[in-house]
Amino acid sequence: AVAQNRVTINPGEGKTIINRHIYGHFAEHLGRCIYDGFYVGENNTKIPNRNGVRLDVVEALKKMKIPNLRWPGGCFADTYHWKDGIGPKSKRPTIVNTWWGGVTENNSFGTHDFLNMCELLGTEPYLAGNVGSGTVQDLTEWVQYVNFEKDSPMSNLRQQNGREKPWNVRFWGVGNEAWGCGGNMKPDYYANIYRQYSTFMNPQVGKERIFRIASGASSDDYTWTETLMKNIPVNMLEGLAMHHYSVFSWDEGKKGSATDFTESEYVRTMKQALRMDELIQKHSAIMDKYDPQKKVALVVDEWGAWYNVEPGTNPGFLYQQNTMRDAVLAGATLNIFHKHADRVRMANLAQVVNVLQAVILTNGAKMLLTPTYHVLEMYNVHQDATLLPVDIKTDDYEVGQEKLPAVSASASRDKAGKVHISLVNIDAGKPQVVTVGLNGLKASNVTGRVLASAKVQDYNTFDNPNKVKPVAFNGAKLNGDNLTVTLPPASVVVLEL
Ligand code: AHR
Repeated sequence: AVAQNRVTINPGEGKTIINRHIYGHFAEHLGRCIYDGFYVGENNTKIPNRNGVRLDVVEALKKMKIPNLRWPGGCFADTYHWKDGIGPKSKRPTIVNTWWGGVTENNSFGTHDFLNMCELLGTEPYLAGNVGSGTVQDLTEWVQYVNFEKDSPMSNLRQQNGREKPWNVRFWGVGNEAWGCGGNMKPDYYANIYRQYSTFMNPQVGKERIFRIASGASSDDYTWTETLMKNIPVNMLEGLAMHHYSVFSWDEGKKGSATDFTESEYVRTMKQALRMDELIQKHSAIMDKYDPQKKVALVVDEWGAWYNVEPGTNPGFLYQQNTMRDAVLAGATLNIFHKHADRVRMANLAQVVNVLQAVILTNGAKMLLTPTYHVLEMYNVHQDATLLPVDIKTDDYEVGQEKLPAVSASASRDKAGKVHISLVNIDAGKPQVVTVGLNGLKASNVTGRVLASAKVQDYNTFDNPNKVKPVAFNGAKLNGDNLTVTLPPASVVVLEL
C-alpha cells in the first residue's frame, strides 16, 4: 500500500513548555548501578574518577544533559536510613540490601557522595524519602540536613561532615511504591500517612520551597490516583508519581531476552510502552477533577523496558542489554510525554547505569553508551522548548494479530527559534515515508540525525561499542510547505529546521 503517514505541525498553537525534567534518570542501590557502576571508590587508581565517581560516566551524562537524578531507590529507599551514610566511611554501619540480591551494603556512597556528584553533573537531585520503615522525624531531619542554612543540630552535623553550605534539594519523594515494596499500604491509609509526612517536611526550610512527590500508582491503578487526589489537599502536594514498565509478563524468567527476541515479542513490548499514552490520559483526567488548574505535576518517576537478566548474572541485579528495540521505545515514550507536557512535568527512566533500561553499561574500566543513551542525547534539543502540537495520521504496523501505529512524532521550538521534529518508525519490518506538513513554518534548510541499525536486535558491546550510534540523516527533503521523510525500519530521527 502507498504510505499515508502524515504529521501536521501546528506552529501557532505552541503554549506549553516541555519541562526538561521529563528527561530525568534514576539511580538505586541495586545491582551494579552505584557500586561497580558509576561509583568506583575514592581509592581507585585504575579508573579516572572524582571522589570515586567515574569521569567517563560524568562526561557522558553531561553531554546527554541529564536534568535530574532520583536516589537512593526504588524499593531500597524505604529501607534506607540516611544517617547510616554520613560521617567517616570507616565508621558507617553495614546493612543488608533486602530487596536486591541480599547483598551487604557498606554505605560508602551516601548523602554527601550523591549530592556532590549531582553538582559535578550539573543535575538536580531528587531524594526519595523512607516512609515504609522510617519515621517522620528521620525524613524531616534529612530535609534540614541538606537544606537548612542557619544554626541547627542538623546543619551543624552537615558542617562537621565537611559541607558548609546547604545543597538546596528541591525534589523530595514521600516514599516509593507504597502499595507494594514501600509498605503494602492501602491508598486511603497512604493518603493519611502522606499528609502527616508532608506536614513536617516543612517546604520553607531552605532557600527554595521544596517539591513533594507522593508515591503513585502502578500503571492502570486509577483507584490509587483517585483516592490520593480526593484526600490530599492540592496545597500539600506538588507532584504525584506513576510507574509503568514495558514488560509483557511479570513471571520470573518469562520477561523475554533483552537481545534475542522475535518480531512478535518486539511488538508485545512496544504495545506495553505505547500504553503510556492512555495511562497518562486517564490519570490526568482524574487529576483534572481535583486540580483543574494543573498545579500538581504527574511524575512518571519509573519507566522503561524490563526483561530477563542477562544469562549468568545475579537475578537480583536486573542487568540487561539494550538494543534498537529500547531506542524505539524511548523515542516513542518521550514523544508521548511531550504530548502531555501540561501535566507530565517530570519523569525518570529506570535506571541510569547497569540496571534495566540503562543509558550506560560498564565492565571494569570499559564503558559503553546504549542505543537508549543516543535517543536521550538526540532528543535533548526538546528540553525546555515550546511544544508545537502535531496531528498524526499513521499507517498500521501489523504483525500477526497485533496492530500498532507505525509512526510516532513530536515537535518543539527552542528559545533560539529553531524547530525540532522527532520521528520514530516503530515498524521493524520496513521503511516508512512520512509527509510532514509545516503549516506555514518558514524553513530554508533541514538537517538531522538518525539512529538505526540493520536489525532491531542490534546492540553495542564492550568490544564493539559503536555498532549503534547516530549519524547524519539525509532522508528528509524540503518541498515548499512539506517535508518528505523516509524513515528506516525501527529508527529514531531528529530533524532541525
Ligand atoms: O527499578 C526497579 C524497581 O522497580 C524499583 O526499586 C521499584 O520502585 C520498582 O518496582
